[in-house]
Amino acid sequence: MSSSASPSPSSPATSLPAQLTARVQAVTGIDPEMRPATKPQFGHFQSNVAMRLAKSAGRPPREVAADLVAQLALDDLCEPLEIAGPGFINFRIKAEVLATTAAALIPDEHAGIVPSADPQRVVIDYSAPNVAKQMHVGHLRSTIIGDCFNRVLSALGHTVIPQNHIGDWGRQFGMLVEQILDEDLDPDTLDLEGAEQLYQRANAHLKADEDFATASRDRVVKLQAGDPETTAIWRKLINVSLAGFNATYARLNVLLTDADVAGESTYNDDLPIICDDLESRGIAQVDDGALVVFVEGSQTPAIIRNQRGGYGYTATDLAAIRHRVGDLESDRIIYVVGSPQQFHFEQVFAIARRAGYLPDEVAAQFVGFGQVLGADGKKFSTREGTAVPLNELLDEANTHAAPNIALAAIKYADLSSGLQKDYTFDAERMVQTTGDTGPYLQYAHARINQILRKAEAEADEAGTPAPGQAITVLDEPAEQQLALLLSRFGEVVAEVGDSLAPHKLCNYLYELAGAYSTFYEHCPVLRSEGEVRESRLGLCRAAKKVLGQGLYLLGIDAPERM
Ligand code: ARG
Repeated sequence: MSSSASPSPSSPATSLPAQLTARVQAVTGIDPEMRPATKPQFGHFQSNVAMRLAKSAGRPPREVAADLVAQLALDDLCEPLEIAGPGFINFRIKAEVLATTAAALIPDEHAGIVPSADPQRVVIDYSAPNVAKQMHVGHLRSTIIGDCFNRVLSALGHTVIPQNHIGDWGRQFGMLVEQILDEDLDPDTLDLEGAEQLYQRANAHLKADEDFATASRDRVVKLQAGDPETTAIWRKLINVSLAGFNATYARLNVLLTDADVAGESTYNDDLPIICDDLESRGIAQVDDGALVVFVEGSQTPAIIRNQRGGYGYTATDLAAIRHRVGDLESDRIIYVVGSPQQFHFEQVFAIARRAGYLPDEVAAQFVGFGQVLGADGKKFSTREGTAVPLNELLDEANTHAAPNIALAAIKYADLSSGLQKDYTFDAERMVQTTGDTGPYLQYAHARINQILRKAEAEADEAGTPAPGQAITVLDEPAEQQLALLLSRFGEVVAEVGDSLAPHKLCNYLYELAGAYSTFYEHCPVLRSEGEVRESRLGLCRAAKKVLGQGLYLLGIDAPERM
């Protein structure tokens, strides 16, 4: 790559470190493996590429370094390159390049996020609680993670289609409807908690009373046949449950709406079609009365239709894929579901690929996640050993902090370590405003804002324009580090969109808040003068924008004051 073809240094599309890497690699042919310089006097980045090349060429490393330095035309980006020690090359990005890059963030409402060159239609399957059951911790994780993916992919210019695949169908509705009739209960008077209690009563009844069990089975048949009375009660149970889910979504401040609900029952009419299709093409076969598909590499076949003629979870998910590809025209489907369901989705994807419901050019990704553990290191549960309803968990966090802070604590704890890991729900630690927590980032944001507010009030009083709209001087290492880090935001977001690893965004924001702290310690802002003051306020503004936008992408509120 010649230097004229390389991206301009102020291009927001690639961060300064990435531009630098690309330009160096174009000359060296191998990854220069840029590392942040260990001391400010070594510049901003250091590479041992010359030493690695020297080894394979059998030449003195400093000589190779000198050759490279002569070839690398980086004058537009860097100060003159330096060779250090055994043959390191030190790179120092020009202060004016850093200033221009950081200043470009101030008026940019996307804070440097660049829309994808290949915008896609992305289905995200997340949340998916079950009717007549309260949402549990697993649904909390799915909802928070899916909400983050939704925000990130939307910010990258993709069309996100959330699909809330709620569990609104199945044999359990036979006993639920039967129990309602048995108790002469008006389902309209139920709330979600009441529906869940009904579920427990129905379950107990079913075990104790043979006649009730038979009636429940008959009721399933009536529901499947569309019997009006049965269907009406079933619908009411769904509505009661949806109202409860929506109340939780509002509490969680997530983007899901009723328009995103596409429950299992949506696919009822498609199930026989799918079975016929798979059977007629020899993909599925009747085995011991059930219709099954043998999937390569797995011992147990997937059951599409059981011996009683009932369709299950697998059939529904196949129908859902067919709909998502055929009708929703998605290019990518992301499933945010607990890790224990990984095998199910591997089977579903394999069958859907074989059947052509999921063409090769459509990506299907299962994003599993670990469990939430209690302080005792065991799966988070009540004293009775049952799963803790989500609302109780939120209440618990609220006893330690204000709701928006408690929520930040939970979401950040959920997103900041690798999704597959289990994490311990330690409300007291999670709400701390120090350390790697959501509230710490909120606090950093509020602190930056406080400075800007003061400066604005002073300017207001003096009748001068709002300060900090430009960045012209960046002489201090702490200022430069902050600017460098700010320039990476767009790239980090793009990376999270690809890898679906929100902890990378969390780590970045934590590092950014740290860099801001260091800057604030070393560089007086309000007490400095002229262009320096103006530039430092500009840096504050850019930092506030990036931090605020980053928190938004995590679904975390960025308070102006705390
Ligand atoms: N309702 C299911 C559960 O609570 C999750 C559904 C996940 N999505 C799907 N397409 N199967 O475990």
